[in-house]
Amino acid sequence: MNTTPLLEIEHLTITFPTGSGPVDVVRDLSAVLDANRTLGVVGESGSGKSMTSLAIMGLLPSTARVSGSIRLNGQELVGKTDREFRTIRGEKVAMVFQDPLSSLNPYYTVGLQIEEAYRSHRGGSRRAARAVVLDALERVRIKDAARRIDHYPHQFSGGMRQRIMIAMALCLEPELLIADEPTTALDVTVQAQILDLLAELQQETGSGMIFITHDLAVVSQVAEDILVMKDGDVVERGTAEQIFSNPQAAYTRSLLDALPRIDDPFEELRGTAR
Ligand SMILES: Nc1ncnc2c1ncn2[C@@H]1O[C@H](COP(=O)(O)OP(=O)(O)OP(=O)(O)O)[C@@H](O)[C@H]1O
Ligand SMILES: [Mg+2]
Repeated sequence: MNTTPLLEIEHLTITFPTGSGPVDVVRDLSAVLDANRTLGVVGESGSGKSMTSLAIMGLLPSTARVSGSIRLNGQELVGKTDREFRTIRGEKVAMVFQDPLSSLNPYYTVGLQIEEAYRSHRGGSRRAARAVVLDALERVRIKDAARRIDHYPHQFSGGMRQRIMIAMALCLEPELLIADEPTTALDVTVQAQILDLLAELQQETGSGMIFITHDLAVVSQVAEDILVMKDGDVVERGTAEQIFSNPQAAYTRSLLDALPRIDDPFEELRGTAR
């Protein structure tokens, strides 16, 4: 039996030099993620969520020092060169960022951009890549994809652009998808659609997912396991169920208290008055 987890992080510490000495932005983080599972990482701004995902992608600023271990299918990522990371990024691990506009080039059609991203790993003809891209756009439910593939980023809504980024991430069939606040910039209805889409795609592909958010309500919809981070430390970990029914850390309780309560009789009234 293969018991190697998809992702195994042990004692990950990320340190930056600053004017007043070295600062740990992530301290002694350990986590395990299996295929087909979603790990939610939740915490306030600056808690180290993005630095953790950038470490997995090999995209930390060059001044960062990393210690500990990040193993993907048993393969150690800490200490890999940029060149080695280039074959891992996209192929094995892909990331969807908060703001799709900053990840898309406004001067090229979305089809061309995804084709180029695909061909930089897999090669092949443009025609073959276009077929893969078209399929990916259909999988993320872009309507009329055969026509939309030749449109520019600004011709899509925010939610559609996020679907396009997800399509780009999916093209190479990564084993691990990192979604870093993928719905923060979207309104609630579109946010729910993207969450549903990610869950469906994960069912289809069997990939593992790390879902990063500052919103405990969002993470509870997608993740089986949750890490709660504060100031670079993991302050709580457990299943979504445990964290909701029996939070241990005061910080987690404060996050839970901040959520709208479904048993609040005035919630609905306030909602209509907003
Ligand atoms: N180049 C750098 N040098 C020093 N510190 C940095 C550098 N880049 C980021 N940091 C610090 O690292 C800490 C963690 O940042 P990170 O981006 O991981 O937070 P986050 O949890 O993703 O927050 P957010 O919810 O705002 O995205 C922050 O305190 C930030 O100021
Ligand atoms: Mg972040």
